[in-house]
Amino acid sequence: MSGNNIILVGFMGAGKSTVAAELARKSGLSLVELDAKIEEKAGISIREIFELSGEEKFRDLESSALRELYGKDKLVISTGGGILGRPQNRELVKGLGKTVYLRAPFLTLKNRLGFSRARPLVKEQPDWVALESLFLSRTPFYEMADLIIDTDNKKPVEIATEIIQLLMEA
Ligand code: S3P
Repeated sequence: MSGNNIILVGFMGAGKSTVAAELARKSGLSLVELDAKIEEKAGISIREIFELSGEEKFRDLESSALRELYGKDKLVISTGGGILGRPQNRELVKGLGKTVYLRAPFLTLKNRLGFSRARPLVKEQPDWVALESLFLSRTPFYEMADLIIDTDNKKPVEIATEIIQLLMEA
């Protein structure tokens, strides 16, 4: 049966991986890192996939990694920030379980991403104007989540606790 999973969505730097790990630890659900699954299958890093084959190829791999989760249960799924870009991904995500948007102001994300060297969309000299407009264009999709958690100034463990409490109340 599908549908009992928790799927974390949000922009790069939102803390999805860290919160997902806490959530899995606290809830006993199994952790799935979608980006790690993609890298495992491809045998190369996400940055290398972007460099060698381009973003569209990465998006194809991302969609198929997501499809492979269908039918699986009791998972905390941490997704990449662009997962909701394709309509079919949005449908798949909705069918997999409860979606949780980890929301943070762009300034917070920017400060965290300033140190990121692994993300292909954050260049050596990041184009913050372009990244902010990407963030704004994705926001309506993130906000379709079942649960929106404001994460600014909260520790990952606090966010995980809040998610569990709110999902239990729902
Ligand atoms: C992406 C976010 C990344 C990764 C890829 C593309 C995006 O994941 O999937 O670099 O389009 O926002 P994180 O959100 O975990 O950084």
